[in-house]
Amino acid sequence: MAAKKIFASAEVAGELLGKDSVTLVNNRTGEQHHFPIVDGTEGPSLIDISNLYSQTGMFTYDPGFTSTGSCRSDITFIDGEKGILLYRGYPIEQLVDGADYLDVCYLLLHGELPSKLEGEQFAAVITNHTMLHEQLVSFYRGFKRSAHPMAIMVGVVGALSAFYHSDTDVHDPYQRMVAAHRLIAKMPTIGSYAYKYSKGQPFMYPKNDLTFSENLLRLMFAVPSEEYTINPIVAKAIDRILILHADHEQNASTSTVRLAGSSGANPFACIASGIASLWGPAHGGANEAVLNMLHEIGSVENIPKFVARAKDKDDKFRLMGFGHRVYKNYDPRATIMRQSCHEVLDELGVSDPLLPIALELEKIALKDSYFIEKKLYPNVDFYSGIILRATGFPVPMFTVLFAIARTVGWVAHWKEMYSGDETQRIGRPRQLYTGARRRDFQQLEIRKNRSPNWLRLWAGKK
Ligand code: ACO
Repeated sequence: MAAKKIFASAEVAGELLGKDSVTLVNNRTGEQHHFPIVDGTEGPSLIDISNLYSQTGMFTYDPGFTSTGSCRSDITFIDGEKGILLYRGYPIEQLVDGADYLDVCYLLLHGELPSKLEGEQFAAVITNHTMLHEQLVSFYRGFKRSAHPMAIMVGVVGALSAFYHSDTDVHDPYQRMVAAHRLIAKMPTIGSYAYKYSKGQPFMYPKNDLTFSENLLRLMFAVPSEEYTINPIVAKAIDRILILHADHEQNASTSTVRLAGSSGANPFACIASGIASLWGPAHGGANEAVLNMLHEIGSVENIPKFVARAKDKDDKFRLMGFGHRVYKNYDPRATIMRQSCHEVLDELGVSDPLLPIALELEKIALKDSYFIEKKLYPNVDFYSGIILRATGFPVPMFTVLFAIARTVGWVAHWKEMYSGDETQRIGRPRQLYTGARRRDFQQLEIRKNRSPNWLRLWAGKK
């Protein structure tokens, strides 16, 4: 598809491409360059600039990738203007109603919803991989009890690469498949052990007759000294949260996994890099940050003060759980989460003092011209924290749950890299270099006599 493979010259390209092209005029030289327009099945067309450098000697500049498509993908589609999210073509609302999390995992990995037999076999395979190697379990003892569970996740998932390196040949489809199953299956065990370790409680073993979400709850909250009864309302709510977080196309953590994977790196190490990226408060760490923010607001009367802070350019404070790079309308996951939040709290008979604050904050922000003009709507993380609190999840575990859910998305994208036509090219962005021009090495005697002032430099000042 790339023009460099097809066309002998820019003129020929322009003629042959006709209206399915974009012409770039360099106003410095008057030169014209033609680039093909490529169309997906949904969404805006893209300009294929893969031969831009060879034609023009220039790169594109797009910090934060606001206008850049980094790959082809068949997995997830988002229409941010209309607030649409599709997994393999299926609307998220329908999947939340009709499927369970493992159905969605199957769908994301294989492209179709499973038949009855496929679903049963997939569940059996995943169930068979839920236990951790006992040597890996002892790895937890190296962490401080007070360590953040996401720090433990990064470490332990990265350590899986040490356990499964020799039998993970990324060029062998069977070994890729087994690695994917291990990752999806072990993530609830790894995440829940981070919590158990912080509490000083014994690690629970997975139980094979439970569903994915039920097993997660048991691993988190059961203790060996008594029977644990699973609350079906809580299990359903967790399953729904897992589905809503399962994939979201080329977000920061998924792009991180793809970039790490593009070098042929071990998949467990690649997923650890995705977990690290997810942890940030601008991404998956927002669900924890939302809860902390609602606590800090404390009461409905304080909301205007915090909204004013969020609008103040000199104040670093942002309304957590608001805004999204792609959604310029309501995040469809937030709509489901909001409704689910009311249902779960009602069904569990929980009255959370943070809910009225969240509802009022949403109401005030949605009427405020700052948020309207910037198209800042609640995102998936705005209400998920309140649901998770009602189900008993401790706040530091919120992002861990997100990581457990998103593992299938990361794995599906990593798998896709090995089946698509862009497979084996290493990801390697370019840059706009703004540093010193070539200069000769300075001997110590002639260097300026400066006293150390590194903090100034770390603060970004010249
Ligand atoms: N509160 C106040 N102002 C905001 C917010 C917010 N939550 N989000 C964006 N803005 C403002 C910015 O200050 C900026 O204003 P300006 O144009 O006057 O400079 C404008 O809106 C655009 O913001 P950017 O940061 O450039 O938008 P970007 O697309 O890069 O960032 C992001 C998106 C990171 C989600 C941002 O909206 C944010 O920080 N939100 C809060 C954190 C959050 O909820 N993250 C979860 C995202 S969902 C997920 O990852 C699962």
